[in-house]
Amino acid sequence: MNNSRICQILGIEKPVIQGPLSWLTDARLVAAVSNAGGLGVLGPNAGLTAQTAVSTPHETAEKMREEIRKTKQLTEKPFGVNLIPTPENDQWTPPIVRVIKEEGVKVVVYTGYGDGAVIPALFNELKAAGITIIYRDINPTPENTRIAEAAGADIIVATGFDEGGTLPGKALGTFSIVPLIADSVVNVPVLAAGGITDKRTARAAHALGASGVFAGSVFISTQESRVPQSVKEKIIAANGLDMVLFRTLPDYYRSLPGKLVGKLAQMDKAGASKDEVAKVMGGLRGLRLGMLEGNTDEGYISLGTGIGSIHGVHSVAQVVDELTL
Ligand SMILES: Cc1cc2nc3c(=O)[nH]c(=O)nc-3n(C[C@H](O)[C@H](O)[C@H](O)COP(=O)(O)O)c2cc1C
Repeated sequence: MNNSRICQILGIEKPVIQGPLSWLTDARLVAAVSNAGGLGVLGPNAGLTAQTAVSTPHETAEKMREEIRKTKQLTEKPFGVNLIPTPENDQWTPPIVRVIKEEGVKVVVYTGYGDGAVIPALFNELKAAGITIIYRDINPTPENTRIAEAAGADIIVATGFDEGGTLPGKALGTFSIVPLIADSVVNVPVLAAGGITDKRTARAAHALGASGVFAGSVFISTQESRVPQSVKEKIIAANGLDMVLFRTLPDYYRSLPGKLVGKLAQMDKAGASKDEVAKVMGGLRGLRLGMLEGNTDEGYISLGTGIGSIHGVHSVAQVVDELTL
């Protein structure tokens, strides 16, 4: 067992966490990361496709149970599940929390969005069940870091603007946010997220004060990832300069180019509001179409700016080793 604090807390061998990826994770990817010594994390709609998509909280939670069970068949190592709770009228989180507890999942990546994102009652419920909490705020600040730690977070993720997915509104790069958050914690370790795709960036993350890495984009291009070969080839061919950045809800988003993305960028340039752009963007449906179906006419391909260091479709085990110092 590696003696890093992250490894001790999570019961893993290498301080490499695969960040949750809406629509893109499944048992195969997550188990591969955990079997390689890191921590895999099931994200929203794990294992689902358009055909099997469901919409009630109970059905969604039961679909997550199926994917958790499949993951348990593929690995005996710890793995996590993502929660994205909202402070009010959250119908989705309670049934998934029940499933997580019933299935004995050991780790939750708790994604916080905005004021009141840290819900003490939920932290208490997870802690009482012996679940380790990795807290990742979309907009990490010293204040919400301290609030999450006081509520019981075991690990904090400092995510920089270099990341893929929903981007932080303050637009601070990974180089700036990681030391800021590392200096804000009282007693818990920090993971760095955003633009970490190779050994150099992993080393930099540790040098900035992180005790481990939290990566998304580099796992999307792996052999075990369920995105189509055409999307993996696009990732390998591209670098951060190819990405298109535009404003939308809650603040910014970035994607590889395509018909829909060209239109969104044009709308933004012409002064459309974030709400107007978000409406045309179509939420996570666009992510599914772009990244699971390779349809960039109606969808988008969300990635971090570190993709220029991804040069091939490697196995998850190779990537986990690469990100381990
Ligand atoms: C396509 C995509 C979908 C994502 N979906 C989620 C999600 O559902 N929940 C979450 O907390 N983070 C999500 N993220 C963020 C990742 O967990 C991780 O923080 C990020 O990918 C790190 O930056 P990197 O892509 O540069 O490695 C997503 C990222 C990408 C690229």
